[in-house]
Amino acid sequence: MSSADKGKGRGAGGGAAGGPTGNRFGGERQLKVRLKTARRRSTSSQRWLERQLNDPYVAAAKRDGWRSRAAFKLIEIDDKYHFLKPGQRVVDLGAAPGGWSQVAAIRVKAVDGRGASRGEVVAIDYLPVDTIPGVTLLELDFLDESAPGKLKALLRDGGADVVLSDMAAPTTGHTATDHLRIMGLAEAAATFAAEILSPGGTFLAKVFQGGTERDLLAVKPKASRADSAELYVLATGFRGRS
Ligand SMILES: C[S@@+](CC[C@H](N)C(=O)[O-])C[C@H]1O[C@@H](n2cnc3c(N)ncnc32)[C@H](O)[C@@H]1O
Repeated sequence: MSSADKGKGRGAGGGAAGGPTGNRFGGERQLKVRLKTARRRSTSSQRWLERQLNDPYVAAAKRDGWRSRAAFKLIEIDDKYHFLKPGQRVVDLGAAPGGWSQVAAIRVKAVDGRGASRGEVVAIDYLPVDTIPGVTLLELDFLDESAPGKLKALLRDGGADVVLSDMAAPTTGHTATDHLRIMGLAEAAATFAAEILSPGGTFLAKVFQGGTERDLLAVKPKASRADSAELYVLATGFRGRS
């Protein structure tokens, strides 16, 4: 995880376009950083570190107060499809370190909205997440049988307008295994979304390319690395349970 991923955000009080600090990702040119090889670093961790240091999204996330570079993926997808609106109830599955929750809290006005335009965000991860203004955090495995009920109990009227899932287990490097594991998480998220979404609701979930995602509307934001198999599936206009 990057230093920006690990770093603490500065709250969700900034504007929707900029980060919590109010800054905006400007795509500034950075000087390329090359590291001297350290005897104690493996080649793969050396490569990972260089990639992090040269990644403009990592730098922008750190500068603007987002807890992860992943925040830019949600910003880009929502800027295109406009499903996060003031007053909505959002569930964020696999929320650590909290970038998506920060974006959602700002866009649904979970802190500064008044009356019906004050939204809420309920987030879950089995990893701890530092407090985020406007976000209720649940530290629990989403696959635990108690998780759906606990999430529902935390939501206004027990329902949601948007279900987000960026859940991913640590990758094994074996493409087929990683694909199936993430599809399992996305399927569990979709089942939960179908139970909890209000009519007109939205479901967004991360998947990995590998075959079984072909029939879905897939989105690949620019902030998603080109060499990663990661894709997002987006379903809007939930028609309700039949
Ligand atoms: C890519 S990270 C999410 C990044 C986050 N969207 C952000 O913007 O900061 C994926 C997260 O999914 C979580 N995760 C994976 N499987 C999970 C599960 N079964 N229950 C809860 N969280 C899970 C991991 O702990 C990890 O924090």
